Amino acid sequence: MKAGSDQRARAEAKLRVEELRAQIEHHRYRYHVLDDPEVADAEYDDLMRELRELEDRFPELQTPDSPTQTVGGAPAALFSPVEHRAPMLSLDNAFTFEELDAWGARVERAVGPAARFACELKIDGVACALTYERGVLVKAATRGDGRIGEDITANIRTVHAVPRTLDGDDPPAVIEVRGEVFLPVKAFEELNDRLREAEQRVFANPRNAAAGSLRQKDPKVTASRPLRMWVHSFGAAEGISFESHLRFLDWAAKSGLPVPPTTEGRESMNGVKEFLTHWEEHRHSVDWEIDGTVIKVDQTDLQRELGATSHAPRWAIAYKFPPEERTALLRAIDVHTGRTGKVTPFAVLEPVFVGGVTITYATLHNEDEVRRKDVRPGDTVIVRRAGDVIPEIVGPVLSRRKKGARRWKMPPTCNACGTPLVRREGEADYRCPNKRGCPSQGLEWLFHFAGRGAMDIEHLGYMTVMRLLEKGLIEDPADIYSLDAEKLSQLPGFKDRSITNVLEQIEGSKDRPIWRLLVGLNIRHVGGHVAQVLAGAFGSIDAIAGASEDEIDAVPGIGPEIAASVREWFDEDENRQLIEKLRTTGVHLADERVETTGPHPLEGMSIVLTGGLEMLSREEATAAAEDAGARVTSSVSKKTSFVVAGESPGTKLAKAEQLAVEVIDEQEFLRRLGRTP
Ligand code: IVH
Repeated sequence: MKAGSDQRARAEAKLRVEELRAQIEHHRYRYHVLDDPEVADAEYDDLMRELRELEDRFPELQTPDSPTQTVGGAPAALFSPVEHRAPMLSLDNAFTFEELDAWGARVERAVGPAARFACELKIDGVACALTYERGVLVKAATRGDGRIGEDITANIRTVHAVPRTLDGDDPPAVIEVRGEVFLPVKAFEELNDRLREAEQRVFANPRNAAAGSLRQKDPKVTASRPLRMWVHSFGAAEGISFESHLRFLDWAAKSGLPVPPTTEGRESMNGVKEFLTHWEEHRHSVDWEIDGTVIKVDQTDLQRELGATSHAPRWAIAYKFPPEERTALLRAIDVHTGRTGKVTPFAVLEPVFVGGVTITYATLHNEDEVRRKDVRPGDTVIVRRAGDVIPEIVGPVLSRRKKGARRWKMPPTCNACGTPLVRREGEADYRCPNKRGCPSQGLEWLFHFAGRGAMDIEHLGYMTVMRLLEKGLIEDPADIYSLDAEKLSQLPGFKDRSITNVLEQIEGSKDRPIWRLLVGLNIRHVGGHVAQVLAGAFGSIDAIAGASEDEIDAVPGIGPEIAASVREWFDEDENRQLIEKLRTTGVHLADERVETTGPHPLEGMSIVLTGGLEMLSREEATAAAEDAGARVTSSVSKKTSFVVAGESPGTKLAKAEQLAVEVIDEQEFLRRLGRTP
């Protein structure tokens, strides 16, 4: 009886001792390294006292590394060399399905058809090995040359996702888990914003930012960066073995290690390919960067049979996605005058294939942006096209800059009409003030008027508009409505059928809701949303034209800047004439009023839209939600009531899932708005 209860007491003491040691190590670290203690000294002293008492009662539990035997203080020197207990190998790559099939065939030749596969995302981060002894994190190291890495223990301890101690009753004597440390995309963007504000050099991509954050001499700086980690493999292991890779991941997750939720087991190479195809399409639906997938033979015994070359295991292969960043020669920086007169500099590149398309042009936004990025004509620049985001110039490759490369300056006059450009106080953009005479503004305006966001006249694309202008067949948007078969037949390629099509489209656009016409009028600050608010409040173009600046300003959702801009537009004679001209062509200038004072089914809610919707444009969805009483915000937080996810949703979906915020589809959204889908 007595022996039994002694044993129980010792077992309980052992558990408590381990718990205390972990807590004490944690508080020492907060205190000595981060200068940011979480507990008062007295609480720390209580923990130490309890540990000391237990070790006195059970001397066999005292170990040389116990906090009672060591002094808290400076950690081992950062970046000192660490020899990996087992080499950290790299991976062979496949870039095509043929190369992947060749790997699959080699595997089958070596181990027969029994292989199952674990499919993972290839995380674009910094490789790191964590050594746990008896469940306690004792060392973290970078990959280095695969044999010897650098000690980054002090910095890794600041990464919240990395546990100091493993969960579970029976931790192995030694396990070295490996994975990638990364900075989520959003955090990377925020970090760069902060660096930019502080006029410091920004990071070119999240991977560099993660590496830079880990390479800080001061762990406090690392701690200020929201680094994360995903575990993907293991090295040395004593006192534990796993029959498969997926079993290892299960164990890791149960032990409290961060395991990505995206890994899947597949039985065949066809199943593997489904996984690859899915992720190649959805690579931006997770909030960390991936540059491919990794396929691993799951069974450990088969892995052993397959073995490794000097640098990579034969049982795994990386299937790489096409790169989203490439370098290219910046041939020139040119400028373009848009429909509002805004002059935008853009990069003219030597064509480069990136993110699945060939890019020759990329916007540089404005003069300040060119200066901030310090890109100069003749530079080699990094071009990035991620998903369906517009291509951007990340920055120059300074080591390849030619001597004498000159900074770029905004030209003094408009490219299209020669009018001197102006930059108003407090604005980032230069503008061409020649509103009605500038051919570039005219073309862009007409194209915008006919475009999907405005009057939505199909078949009246850029080239057609350009030809109509060149031939003098139209000058302003109202002229579109006096086009006829005779005029259209003057355009190359326009035959009976295409002429009828265009004319039908033009006719059909006459009774669009007036918010579309308002957008098409090209009034500064009046986009889809503002136009819908104005149309809802006034009901007709004449009512808006007749309203005072104060009356417009009084409309909820309309600010003074918009009100002034709307008033200014309608005060100009040319614009009033345009409205009259549109009236004579039969374009509707008033909406049929519908009763809008119904119930507000989404009153007080905060919602987020992501991805493309089928029935509603983004503007329509926003306006409908706002009419129903909701606030539409751009980022997901715990306070978000629900997220509406459409086609190819962005990282907002992942964020919603992470925060357990409800996600609904468009049909359900329409239902909640009280509309029948
Ligand atoms: S397995 C022996 N799995 O990519 C197996 N590596 O280019 C080696 N990486 O050195 C690691 N995601 O640092 C593995 N899901 C994943 C990975 C991954 C990223 C890194 C890893 C490796 C490098 C090879």
